[in-house]
Amino acid sequence: MTTTTTTATTSSDYIPRGPTTAELTFYAPPPDNSAPYNYVESPPPGQPARNYPEVPHRVTLNDIRGHESQYNLDKDSFQALQNITSAATYSTFDSDDSVRSIYYPEVEQLLLSTIPGSRKIILFDHTIRRQKDGAPRQPVTRAHVDQTPRAAADRVKLHIQDPEEAEKLLAGRYRIVNVWRPLTVEPVQSAPLAFASAASVDGEDLVPIEHRYPHRTGETMGVKYNPGQEWLYWSGMTGDERLLLKCSDSKGLKDGDVAQWVPHTAFWDERTPAEARARESIEVRALVFD
Ligand code: OGA
Ligand code: FE
Repeated sequence: MTTTTTTATTSSDYIPRGPTTAELTFYAPPPDNSAPYNYVESPPPGQPARNYPEVPHRVTLNDIRGHESQYNLDKDSFQALQNITSAATYSTFDSDDSVRSIYYPEVEQLLLSTIPGSRKIILFDHTIRRQKDGAPRQPVTRAHVDQTPRAAADRVKLHIQDPEEAEKLLAGRYRIVNVWRPLTVEPVQSAPLAFASAASVDGEDLVPIEHRYPHRTGETMGVKYNPGQEWLYWSGMTGDERLLLKCSDSKGLKDGDVAQWVPHTAFWDERTPAEARARESIEVRALVFD
């Protein structure tokens, strides 16, 4: 008797890989030349949530898969790490408490062992994103950098209560690094993250935007489109991979000799199958001190 086994590679399993093009959303200045802002929560009555327009541009995106080691934080402001062991399981990410007690210690150790010179880490925030109706946070489809240099310095003052220690740390090298990973073991199939190597980004294209929370105002950066920007993505990221996104580096600001920031945004890849698994991810934000 003969049995025929068919291993169906259904199109719903397909992971988009290799070079592609996609429309990314970029910053454009307010038409009345006023200072740009956006409200993190609902704006005051009569005010728009943001006062600046956004413009789509189609860009080429290259896949860093297979070339991970060519990129690093000092040159590109991002770094791709593989084969990371983790005690966190899918359900660890169901509660902020278990994220802090189980996942945070791993992230701290990972940063200390990966970033040469780093001696002190403060994990100050994390965001879980699920590409699902009703999810509190969705992927962000807007090119941005999380902080301006001023906002990074403010973060140091916010999280280091002792003013003398804050002053000391502000005089040394401090960086803000996001540690991004999917929640699933299975590869990201939909809404991957795009990022532009800092080596290809002109600082003139980054525009400070007031980021108005209910109780304080932060500052993020919008990204103007520039054909010189080299956009990349990491196809099919798995649960044992980590993408480090460095949003600020005081050494780059002071000496200009290392990368300072990495513009990034989620994107829709037209090759994504209709039945694709929804992207679920976490980014942990870290202050990294030398
Ligand atoms: C980030 C970020 C967007 C996303 O990690 O800082 O902007 O869609 N993420 O994951
Ligand atoms: Fe971001």
